[in-house]
Amino acid sequence: MLDVLPAEQPYWRHVERAAAEAARLFGFDRITTPTLEATGLFVRGVGEGTDLIDKEMYSFVTKGGDELTLRPEGTAPVMRAFLEHGMQSLSVPVRLSYVVPIYRHDRPGAGRYREHTQFGAECIGVADSAADAEVIALAWKFYELCGLREIELQLSSIGDELCRPGYVEALRAYYAGVIDQACSTCKDRFERNPLRLLDCKVPTCQPLIEAAPKPVDYLCEPCREHFESLQGHLRDLGIPFHLNPRLVRGLGYYTRTVFEVYPPVRGSQSAVGGGGRYDRLIEELGGKPTPAVGFGIGLERIILTLKEQGLRLEPDRPVVYVAAHGEAARAAALPVLKSLRDAGIAAVGVTEPRSLKAQLRQADALGARFAAVLGEDELARGVIQLKNLATGEQEAVARDGLAKAMVGATAPTAGT
Ligand code: HAM
Repeated sequence: MLDVLPAEQPYWRHVERAAAEAARLFGFDRITTPTLEATGLFVRGVGEGTDLIDKEMYSFVTKGGDELTLRPEGTAPVMRAFLEHGMQSLSVPVRLSYVVPIYRHDRPGAGRYREHTQFGAECIGVADSAADAEVIALAWKFYELCGLREIELQLSSIGDELCRPGYVEALRAYYAGVIDQACSTCKDRFERNPLRLLDCKVPTCQPLIEAAPKPVDYLCEPCREHFESLQGHLRDLGIPFHLNPRLVRGLGYYTRTVFEVYPPVRGSQSAVGGGGRYDRLIEELGGKPTPAVGFGIGLERIILTLKEQGLRLEPDRPVVYVAAHGEAARAAALPVLKSLRDAGIAAVGVTEPRSLKAQLRQADALGARFAAVLGEDELARGVIQLKNLATGEQEAVARDGLAKAMVGATAPTAGT
């Protein structure tokens, strides 16, 4: 779990603004659900046999005996809230987005944390592939607003409850003949969650996966049509995609569309987003059958990739440092600071007795663009010395006119 120090905050502000703006452009309202949910919500929603449920949840029993879990993914909680607040009666689609912390007890590594933050969006109530396209377009707009380049969208379809069983049967039949050549994880998945066999990263398992039956070859007619019309929409939108017949996703609720987004340089865990359609989840959680589609994007990985691609953002700096020498001048500095802030100008000032030289050094260290210096002489004359710290230029300005004089001189700096 990471501390986000001041130097990192401009990057966070950048991606959070991009998330808010992308959601606004697509009409997705923000929803925030609690960090803790009943453990059963995830077990039912995501499904046993997935790493997330079997290995990665932070679950505990409260003093009151409740079994709770720190949110390991964002979709099931939003669907719980959707049902709990009667949103099924709203006109469809219901468009919801969120930026929330997610907890997974996974092995930490580069870009893989035990607490990460997801920007997610869920479009609920529409089965048409236009909804899938809209959701992918929203993710794409977010990447664009962030300034992320050269990412790759991988797309597939894993069918629905009608055609998937036939596929899984074929997959099992194939693997039954080769499972003794597979790794121990594959052997376990063969028993518990065969679809995940396609996601194994162990080199010796790759030839087995290459030769295995592919979900896209087993789609029923409606699933195939849905998949093809989605591809047509993406072409119309100019969103490039790469068909990856091995794409299966780690969560159990997906039907039909699945997608993941990768940066140009990647490790095995580096997806900068993933999502898909989950037409059965709401029913699984006790609602009436309601199709839905969405995505989750890890903001830490977005920031890592943006930095790798050269983005540099600076923390906000005070515009003015108000320096004062002498007891009376220091007292008079406080209302000067107030007048600057009231005018919307970021200002800091001396808070303890220090030499003028030390104060100007501090102004420099803080990155202030101006110093306003107040001594006994200035106090007596009702002025303040305004010094441009970059050019060294200095002029005396009326103390009560300082804020006004500054307003024109201050344009926002990069990163603000
Ligand atoms: P997910 O693929 O498990 O999907 O996670 C979505 C994204 O969160 C990943 O693509 C990655 O960017 C980020 N992420 C996941 N785990 C970590 C980690 N340990 N450290 C840093 N970043 C991570 C879901 O969670 C689904 N709820 C997405 C969804 C929404 N599907 C439909 N609607």
